[in-house]
Amino acid sequence: MRGVKVPKKEAEKVRKQLLELNLLDINFKVKHQGDFVIFPVKDKIEGFEIVETTFEKAIRRPQSYREVVDIPEELFPLLPSSFDIIGDIAIIELPEELFPYGENIGKAILKVHKHIKAVFAKGSKVLGEYRVRELIHLAGEKRTETVHRENGIRLKLDVAKVYFSPRLATERMRVFEKTREGEVIFDMFAGVGPYSILLAKKAKIVFACDINPWAIRYLEENKKLNKVENVVPILGDVRKVAGQIEADRVIMNLPKFAHEFLREAITSVKRGGVIHYYGFSHEDNLFDEHIEMIERVAEELGKSVKILEKRKVRPYAPYQFNIAIDFVVF
Ligand SMILES: C[S@@+](CC[C@H](N)C(=O)[O-])C[C@H]1O[C@@H](n2cnc3c(N)ncnc32)[C@H](O)[C@@H]1O
Repeated sequence: MRGVKVPKKEAEKVRKQLLELNLLDINFKVKHQGDFVIFPVKDKIEGFEIVETTFEKAIRRPQSYREVVDIPEELFPLLPSSFDIIGDIAIIELPEELFPYGENIGKAILKVHKHIKAVFAKGSKVLGEYRVRELIHLAGEKRTETVHRENGIRLKLDVAKVYFSPRLATERMRVFEKTREGEVIFDMFAGVGPYSILLAKKAKIVFACDINPWAIRYLEENKKLNKVENVVPILGDVRKVAGQIEADRVIMNLPKFAHEFLREAITSVKRGGVIHYYGFSHEDNLFDEHIEMIERVAEELGKSVKILEKRKVRPYAPYQFNIAIDFVVF
């Protein structure tokens, strides 16, 4: 077989070049010979020392569950390319046609991703006040409790009882970076605490409210798990506590209904304080309607606002985005 022989110290650079040129034959193992490395190549290449040699066959681990899954060939195009991983639990969104093969799909995910212990399919949209979805067990352990790591913290939660999306980790880090030492934070819709526990590292105190008793139970556990003491969990409807808190920063992570809670948010923030508002929007009108609403409610309360930042957080449905608007209240 044909190989490209290079000194060890140049090996990484050459490997990248060969990969870019699609000349590296990944079905064979790279050979080490003294101070040299020999790469198996598919074709001749100029500018390198070419040698004839033998290579051992590479045992290539599958990179995706789609390489090992057992389903009828005509359904392959319907297989999702990705799924959510929360702790050691995978949650996949399957089209109806793939449900009869759910167990095979679950088993394929377990086979390729050794750290995943249970696989569920989304059984519904995120529903109701608690923002929880139905889940259908596909394979592995019949367990919905797990510990998820993100942004340097650990979050214990039950994927069937509370809302949690690993896709918001970057957004949470963005808010953490904006937070200044010693702030008073009001996390109006705290869930199990992915914002609250993270922001507590900088804040003086975090008031963390949620109406779902399971979320507050896990939030209490997550305080201990992360050795965080300056988070005050509040179980109940945020309407009952709003206005009693004077925060430097308010987080409104309830995109579906946040607009209904603007009055509560604005009356809970100090003059000059910041509100992180989230919403869902069609791509044709991402921010204007939300901003009009924010300005109207502020005016009704005799206040004014200044928009600091508006951004798409993530796609959420066809043509729909989860958006974030940061604004100051005066
Ligand atoms: C989209 S989840 C966000 C949870 C968390 N912030 C996160 O990032 O994972 C919204 C949360 O708001 C809670 N919730 C809904 N209505 C509420 C209300 N009126 N008062 C307090 N919490 C509420 C739900 O139980 C849910 O946990």
